[in-house]
Amino acid sequence: MATPAAVSFIDVEALEKQTGRPVRSQHRAPGDPRSPKADAIIVAPATFNTINKLASGIADNYVLDVVNEAIGLGVPTVVLPFVNSAYAGRAPFRDSVRKLKGEEVSVLIGKDAFAPHEAGSGSSAFDTFPWQLALDQAEKIL
Ligand SMILES: Cc1cc2nc3c(=O)[nH]c(=O)nc-3n(C[C@H](O)[C@H](O)[C@H](O)COP(=O)(O)O)c2cc1C
Repeated sequence: MATPAAVSFIDVEALEKQTGRPVRSQHRAPGDPRSPKADAIIVAPATFNTINKLASGIADNYVLDVVNEAIGLGVPTVVLPFVNSAYAGRAPFRDSVRKLKGEEVSVLIGKDAFAPHEAGSGSSAFDTFPWQLALDQAEKIL
């Protein structure tokens, strides 16, 4: 799944080839087959925007709909943020991380996890984005 904002900068075709599954960013049309149920969900790279909305129970796109419900259903959920230190230092963001952790969501931020990069240095930080941490954490929970 990709948020509508993500669709404009990910390679949808490559992902579909790699996973053998359609990349979904919108609800299916009536009659289209349902997606399989997830054993676990990884939200990555999770934006400031998506993390704050998820923590507040806002479901204004397909990804947020699915993940909000999954958390309520108790599906193991791991959030690996990609935010800079200016975003990460904001009080609403810190509250969101606390709220999500309070609902048993693994938010991998801080020491031994994703360390927020300096504002403006996102493109270089992307090369070292720790995808594996999210996979390891999902496996650990399962
Ligand atoms: C070039 C560019 C880079 C961005 N990088 C980030 C980023 O690294 N982390 C982040 O949280 N938001 C970043 N943003 C802001 C998000 O794109 C914006 O908050 C968007 O609404 C996120 O939508 P989503 O959470 O639905 O995917 C960036 C925006 C632009 C235009």
